[in-house]
Amino acid sequence: MPKVTIDNIEIEVPEGTTILQAARMIGERNSAERYVAPPTMCFYTSLKGSGGYCRTCLVKVVKGSDKDPRPMPKPVVSCRTNVMDGMVVENTINAELLDARSGVTEFLLINHPLDCPICDQAGECHLQDLSYEHGLATSRYQFERRTFDPIDIGETIKLHMTRCILCYRCVKVAEQITDGRVHGVINRGDVAEISTYIEQAIDNDFSGNMIDVCPVGALTDRTFRFAARVWITKPMDAHRNCDKCSGKTVVWLKGQEVLRVTGRKNQWGEVEEFICNTCRFEKKQLSDWTIEGPRNIDRHSVISQGHYVQKVEQRVLTSGTPNVPELAAGKNPKKN
Ligand code: SF4
Ligand code: FES
Repeated sequence: MPKVTIDNIEIEVPEGTTILQAARMIGERNSAERYVAPPTMCFYTSLKGSGGYCRTCLVKVVKGSDKDPRPMPKPVVSCRTNVMDGMVVENTINAELLDARSGVTEFLLINHPLDCPICDQAGECHLQDLSYEHGLATSRYQFERRTFDPIDIGETIKLHMTRCILCYRCVKVAEQITDGRVHGVINRGDVAEISTYIEQAIDNDFSGNMIDVCPVGALTDRTFRFAARVWITKPMDAHRNCDKCSGKTVVWLKGQEVLRVTGRKNQWGEVEEFICNTCRFEKKQLSDWTIEGPRNIDRHSVISQGHYVQKVEQRVLTSGTPNVPELAAGKNPKKN
């Protein structure tokens, strides 16, 4: 099995593993080393053919392999490049690479309206995380930004094309897990857009998963829009008997009210099992669900802060005394 070294951490992986998968394996082996996994905006493990569009997962290969140790001359996309035996890769320890990633972030943001304060995705947006970590405080873009009116695609999904980064994930979902694809990317280059001429056409049992896979706020849940900031809601693992999907979801509560229902995401922000539209859009009563317990939101996000408050609330409920010094110091016992 080939051995690869990423940011000075060595791992042995099966033949055919990509650099991205190898980096994630390092993070799965030891959560303290999860930082070596490059960010991803378009790759999605369960969607065939995803990856290769956004270029946020760039890494620098400083040694190709034991057989051919020459470095690769340019950064490569880790989601589409397989490891070779003896390969040495740099991600977070390479200043030139980090500079390249900040250039990619700048490109992704040139047409973005920067409307996080009113966007439902705020707090769980991968572009927001990326720009926080790699973005510039100002834009050098001098041309007029592309603008589009928000469009209802179907009864339950709203498209804000201004926020779309053309990652193609929603197209792959439509292609691979719904009965028939009825939308896609039309045109190319700076006039490319998710097709909107089929405005009312997305209507099948699994279309809501496009909302979960969208890394930004371009596709939002019309039943949840503007209902709450996600970090003041309480995510709970819940399930129900469903004849269309596994029925395993996360319900996002405000008090006893179910504000939204989503799939369960893993530590890489990817849905573990796709859920049906009935579970997502129609089961909005607490009595529809068997609540399993608080969801561990496993990513460095403002939601983790709400998670912390939730933990303190639980401690207050069980012991009667919050850990005030911990709260005052703003410490998050579960920093993901
Ligand atoms: S709408 Fe979202 S999922 Fe679809 S291409 Fe745009 S950013 Fe990607
Ligand atoms: S995640 Fe690799 S190119 Fe987008």
